[in-house]
Amino acid sequence: MTTPPAPAPSAAAARQHSLTDPASPWVVVNKHRPLSPATYRPADLAQPGVRLATSGEAALLNSTTAAAAERMFAAAAGAGVTLTLASGYRSYATQTRTYNGYVSSRGQAEADTASARPGYSEHQTGWSFDLGDGGGACSFQPCFAEQPAAVWARNNAHLFGFVVRYPWMLHTITGYYYEPWHLRYVGVEAAGDMNSRGIATLEEYFGLEAAPAYL
Ligand code: DAL
Ligand code: ZN
Repeated sequence: MTTPPAPAPSAAAARQHSLTDPASPWVVVNKHRPLSPATYRPADLAQPGVRLATSGEAALLNSTTAAAAERMFAAAAGAGVTLTLASGYRSYATQTRTYNGYVSSRGQAEADTASARPGYSEHQTGWSFDLGDGGGACSFQPCFAEQPAAVWARNNAHLFGFVVRYPWMLHTITGYYYEPWHLRYVGVEAAGDMNSRGIATLEEYFGLEAAPAYL
C-alpha cells in the first residue's frame, strides 16, 4: 500500500489567525467573502507618521498596519524612494460613495472591476492602503507600476509584512485587475512565505476558492 505524499507544510496550513474576523491580519475579503459585520470599523485607527497624499479618514490605518507602514516608508526613504499614503481606511459610508461614483461614471459592470461594493472592501479593515509615488505620477493608473514607489514596493514590501493584493493577470482569482498601488498587511511571516514560495494571492495561499465575481 502506498501512502499519498503529505501536503507541503506552510504557515497558512497552521491557520494562526482567523480568515474571517476583520480584526485578524489574515482576514480574506473578496467578492465571495464580505466583511462581517458589514459596517465593521477598526477600534484602533491611527494616523501613521508617513508622507500623506490624502487627509482625514483616508489617512488612517489600524494601529498594526500604521506601525508597519512607518517602518516601510522609512526604509524606502533610506533607499532614496519616496512613498506616499494615498488612500487608507474607508468607512462603509465612504465606500458606498466611492462605489456609487464609479457606477455613475462607468456603469456597474466596469465599476465592479475597480471598486469593491460597500461591505466588501479591504480598505474598511484598516489592513490596506493605496500607495502613491513621491513625484505624484500615475496615481491609480496602470503606469504606476513603473514608478519608483511601485517598483520598490513590489520588491521589498514583504519584508515589512505587506503584499500587493491584486497582482498582474490574476483578476480571475482576486476579482480585480492589477492594482500595483494596493498593499495589504498580512504580517512578515506570511508575506515572506508567500514571496519565497511564489504564491501571489491570498486566495491561493489560504486554499480559498477564486472570487472573480459576486455570487
Ligand atoms: N479598489 C479596491 C478593490 C477596493 O475598492 O477595495
Ligand atoms: Zn486600494
